Amino acid sequence: MNFSDSEIVAAILEKEGYGSTKDIRSADIIFINTCSIRDHAEQRIRKRLEYLQSLKRKNPHLVVGMLGCMAERLKTQLLEEEQVLDLIAGPDSYRDLPGLMAEVESGRKAANTLLSMDETYADISPVRYDSNGISAFISIMRGCENYCAYCVVPYVRGQERSRDADSITKEAEELFHKGFREVTLLGQNVNSYQWIRDGKKTTFAGLLEQVALVNPLLRVRFATSHPKDLSDELLGTMARYNNICKSIHLPVQSGSTRILGHMNRGYTRDQYLERIAAIRSILPGCAISSDFIAGFCDETEEDHKETLSLMEQAGFDYTFMFRYSERPDTLAAERYQDNVPSELKDRRLREIIDLQQRLSYQSNKKDVGKTVEVLIEGFSKRSDAFYSGRNSQNKVVVFPVTGNHPGEYVPVKINRFTSATLIGEAG
Ligand code: 5AD
Ligand code: SF4
Repeated sequence: MNFSDSEIVAAILEKEGYGSTKDIRSADIIFINTCSIRDHAEQRIRKRLEYLQSLKRKNPHLVVGMLGCMAERLKTQLLEEEQVLDLIAGPDSYRDLPGLMAEVESGRKAANTLLSMDETYADISPVRYDSNGISAFISIMRGCENYCAYCVVPYVRGQERSRDADSITKEAEELFHKGFREVTLLGQNVNSYQWIRDGKKTTFAGLLEQVALVNPLLRVRFATSHPKDLSDELLGTMARYNNICKSIHLPVQSGSTRILGHMNRGYTRDQYLERIAAIRSILPGCAISSDFIAGFCDETEEDHKETLSLMEQAGFDYTFMFRYSERPDTLAAERYQDNVPSELKDRRLREIIDLQQRLSYQSNKKDVGKTVEVLIEGFSKRSDAFYSGRNSQNKVVVFPVTGNHPGEYVPVKINRFTSATLIGEAG
């Protein structure tokens, strides 16, 4: 999401005559786009500011700005705490960046952290910098109103709002014409996307279909789905189109119904497993990935065991796993105590990671001997003798270079695998 936002910021700045550079020392302006999801993310940003301070000592005219969630969360307090900052802008105020920069030029520090009810940057065509030219993100909605107890997002990204469906399809068409072959539709909770115009409602399933119809050679992915809103209608749409990738990211967070209740997630363990069963029956072979939080408030050993057993039952292909980090002002910070000792959080997280490694190994092993369709993204990171791409299930596949080019689809027979990569041969 931040990557996609940075592309919007780049477009706004390009209009003002600015260009981007890969050499940070030659930059006149440095904006750092920030995340507040866990304390660790914010600590890393603070460290990065120390480095920017050292650049500023060498170049006193350098303008340094902080964008995004951390700017939104801490507001002008940041300008006092971090002397290096000239400017802060929250996620809904990027259109104001030229104005804020003018203020800085006239010698003042500048800030805009107003949240909006309707900003979606729908008309802004993002600058695809640092792109492989094959896959791109399209932001389809902003904000979130689910108020999961642990989560800072509703406070820093504001109310949920969907972007004009036609502007999304147009962006996908333009990308296709430029040679892109894969788009990922982005939102905090894409399943609750809805756009109404002239009495006609477009749901997420409808939008996905509209984008899939742009061209059968354009792959479509999406993230993130919320288990409480993942409909059979959507699974049916996914089944009908070969170019809608068979991969669903469905964060569960915990396997314990009691903890899910405390987290305000809106589903039980059984309801989550029922959704997994629906995916398995409507979309056989679909990859399923998830997110977990270890050591949420009041989590007992029993709750943790339920998380491990849910992981086994669901058989996730891969997951993102985190230890709980209390965020100021969230429901959990107000209502509950962050009372799972640090060593216990670490141990539980370790167990979740170890189990997932085993599940990912099993998932990759099942692919050996199969022939999968790979969209070539470019040379592999390690060697120009190999191409790298992904299959529909979003697994990275590496194979010896053929006469094909990036952007083309090739069948690849999988021979072996490492923890994060399938390795095979085109044929
Ligand atoms: N502590 C730890 N992990 C968190 N996440 C969100 N908030 C927190 C928090 N306070 C995780 C969730 C979410 C992912 C994007 O980040 O698993 O799905
Ligand atoms: Fe945070 Fe929950 Fe919204 Fe996801 S759905 S962004 S976890 S509040």
